[in-house]
Amino acid sequence: MSDLRAVYDILTDVYRQGAYASLALSRRVDSVRSRDFVTRFVYGVLDRDTELDHYIGAMVSRKPHGGTTILLKMGMYCVLYMDSVPDYAAVNNTIELAKAVGKGASSGFLNGVLKAFCKKRPALPADKVARLSVTASVPLWIVRAYVKQYGWDKTQEFLTAKPEEREHMRVDVARISVADMCKKLDELGVDHSPDPDLGDALFVRNTPALKALYDGGLFTWQSKCSMLCCRAAAPASGEKALDMCAAPGGKAVYLSSLADGVSVTACDIYHHRLQLIQSYAARMHRNIDVRLMDATAPAKEMYGAYDVVLCDVPCSNLGVAAKKPDVYLSKDAASVASLAEVQYKILCSGARCVKEGGKVVYSTCTLLKEENGDIVKRFLKEHREFVSEGEKQYFPDGAGMDGFFVSVLRRKGL
Ligand SMILES: C[S@@+](CC[C@H](N)C(=O)[O-])C[C@H]1O[C@@H](n2cnc3c(N)ncnc32)[C@H](O)[C@@H]1O
Repeated sequence: MSDLRAVYDILTDVYRQGAYASLALSRRVDSVRSRDFVTRFVYGVLDRDTELDHYIGAMVSRKPHGGTTILLKMGMYCVLYMDSVPDYAAVNNTIELAKAVGKGASSGFLNGVLKAFCKKRPALPADKVARLSVTASVPLWIVRAYVKQYGWDKTQEFLTAKPEEREHMRVDVARISVADMCKKLDELGVDHSPDPDLGDALFVRNTPALKALYDGGLFTWQSKCSMLCCRAAAPASGEKALDMCAAPGGKAVYLSSLADGVSVTACDIYHHRLQLIQSYAARMHRNIDVRLMDATAPAKEMYGAYDVVLCDVPCSNLGVAAKKPDVYLSKDAASVASLAEVQYKILCSGARCVKEGGKVVYSTCTLLKEENGDIVKRFLKEHREFVSEGEKQYFPDGAGMDGFFVSVLRRKGL
């Protein structure tokens, strides 16, 4: 299969069947010649989706059907962002691809729109919020919500921050010191630098050379926000921690390593995702008690049984859109409102499971207050036996931080 055909098929899975880009990519990866090219192209189109929609809307009076829109987005993306491909080749490749995928009838239309696009780009919106939506390629309703919450300057700042390309390597310091890991990275010729805020993490570019160290559990890939969230939960030596929504298991595993003898129970509602927690824990040489559970309805014997409860709830994921641009495709205000109801229920259930004097940590990887501060405010109003010990909204900053929210709530008593 040609690489362009693979890009088209993967984008079709994502746009038309609602597949996650990462899963659609790995399902079809065997049939592509150049995984890097296909990955960059797929993520590139998804990342620029709002911008491409703006251009299509400005150039055609009626939006074409699904497959033709995908071809148009691929062609426009190529013209805008693939410097190594001359414009005429971007147009010709799109026409050839249209014929190969049974969209030959759209060739004339695609040819006309793409040639006009090569000659002249449609203007950007005059209104500054709408213009930022196009230039940052973030849906307008989300930009409006951010501006309302954070003001124009802050919104512009975090929406235009260029993402850090290197990832955070969390070194398992129980098994190898950071200094020894740095020596190993030097031997492998892998670039690394320390993170000023985290003693056990390094900024590293992911390369296949790291596979043996990763498989051996000497390190894991973990975002800085995830680590900071676990440190806010900070179980003490010998304490019992409960992770209500734990798959794939990154935070549960880190919680178990933050002090000696911490026992962690890690739950998830999906059976197939429990396997992810188990293999993560096995790779990192940690013992975790893994359970199938709907976090909105924990078993009664869990009530009041834990020193620390983490509610890392399912959320809109908007704070990690730089890494997963497909998160924008399926979200709207209604889906956020229904998520917020589930999030609130999970927080209330988590609160039931914590001991008197214990701590509940509520976290999301999103920037919308409906999923963050509003949930905590409502919780505190309805649960007078809890007090806030602080909350923090992190923003994508181009230096390895995502959009992430952490709130620490203490149950009074003892
Ligand atoms: C944000 S992810 C958790 C990430 C995880 N804490 C980590 O650090 O690796 C949210 C998880 O919640 C799970 N989930 C969704 N609804 C749930 C529910 N009602 N009860 C328990 N888990 C749920 C999802 O399957 C998903 O694995």
